[in-house]
Amino acid sequence: MIQQNLNKFSIEKALQSALFQGLIRNEDTAVIFYDLAFLAARISNLAANFPQNTLHGLAIKANPLARIMEFVRTIARNTGVEAASAGEVNMALKAGYRPNQVVFDSPVKTRADLVFALGAGVHLNIDNLSELERVSELTLTGSSTLTGSVGLRINPQIGLGTILESSVAGDYSKFGIPIKYQRKELEHACITYPWLTGVHLHVGSQGCDVSLLTEGIGVLYDFVLEMNEKRKKTGIPLINVFDIGGGLPISYKSETTPPSMEEYVKSILNRAPKLFDPEEFQLITEFGRWSYTNSGWTVSRVEYVKHDPSIKTAMIHVGADLFVRECLNPRDWQHEYTVFDRNGNLKHGVDTLPYNLAGPLCFSGDFVAKGVLLPEIEEGDFIAIHDTGGYTFSMWSRYNSRQTPRVLGYQGDRFQMLKERESLEELQRFWE
Ligand SMILES: Cc1ncc(COP(=O)(O)O)c(C=O)c1O
Repeated sequence: MIQQNLNKFSIEKALQSALFQGLIRNEDTAVIFYDLAFLAARISNLAANFPQNTLHGLAIKANPLARIMEFVRTIARNTGVEAASAGEVNMALKAGYRPNQVVFDSPVKTRADLVFALGAGVHLNIDNLSELERVSELTLTGSSTLTGSVGLRINPQIGLGTILESSVAGDYSKFGIPIKYQRKELEHACITYPWLTGVHLHVGSQGCDVSLLTEGIGVLYDFVLEMNEKRKKTGIPLINVFDIGGGLPISYKSETTPPSMEEYVKSILNRAPKLFDPEEFQLITEFGRWSYTNSGWTVSRVEYVKHDPSIKTAMIHVGADLFVRECLNPRDWQHEYTVFDRNGNLKHGVDTLPYNLAGPLCFSGDFVAKGVLLPEIEEGDFIAIHDTGGYTFSMWSRYNSRQTPRVLGYQGDRFQMLKERESLEELQRFWE
């Protein structure tokens, strides 16, 4: 079993150490941190739970930092990446991943994207029947030589999780080919194209429990077994690449226990026993949130504290630029928050009034959190927002043109620069 969340005491230690080493300068109004040992333990745990021939395509959309991509590549031999755009494929290759460690998923790939992916040798997941036709055309006309492998994204249509915006396996979805509505077309594709040797699904991200995730896999598993019987008869290669996507939820609150990877794997094995047989299948996984989120945290200085009759407002340096989902959909996305004084000492107790944590942006929804009970906050204090290692910096918004924060990784009290604070010149260049 692995640690679920970083606790406030380990954050205090790292914050004090960073302050002592002068790594939080005056201009560093906010800094993003990664506990690299914690992250490494996650990746090792992932590798330990699946057969050795599995490709763990960590979702770049959760964390596209080049230094982090390079770091996780060294942790387990079978670490790869899942790329959601040609840009992300390119970033992965630049970070040292071999093409066969890269999975390319996108529902809107252009012809040029397809030519690039087929030639580069990545694993390509086709999203829809029109894309399938394009790939068939490209390989038939010889405009592209297939050097990697190809799978088909299928929507198992097993229902939605608790978060609508991140659930993608309902009856309707903009992703994949719906198995109930287009089964005939899917069967036709499976017996027609010998190069189609993979299937792919992704049920949703956060808000989907183990039974829903497993049922999605089960629906595709039954389909693949049936299709492979047909393929055996016609002598074409069997479907042997099974991409289960990501989606295992994490906990953003230390008091709630999320399902473990061990639990998830047990559940998959119950429903789809042959899936873990390396003679029959190569599995691909695409865990983003589970891999990254709990290893990161963000600290912001408190610039001002405003006082209203029933609420106090701590004005901080990150808002909807870094916490897009939290500000736009606060019901579903909440973190834990810890207050430290200007020297990084943990503050205790609970103030008489609750706090709003307000960001610096010019719109009235720019609150990282509302009505939270915290110790008394003063100007110059630090507020740490926990569990920001995934789907946080990757969703950075340019609104109001604030500089992106410094990003530091640490192992014990050894720090390394993962990304420097954006300079005013770099910021200017974005808009030119
Ligand atoms: C196709 C695909 N794979 C993998 C993921 C990663 O999901 P998670 O970060 O929840 O593991 C996503 C995220 O939405 C996705 O769309």
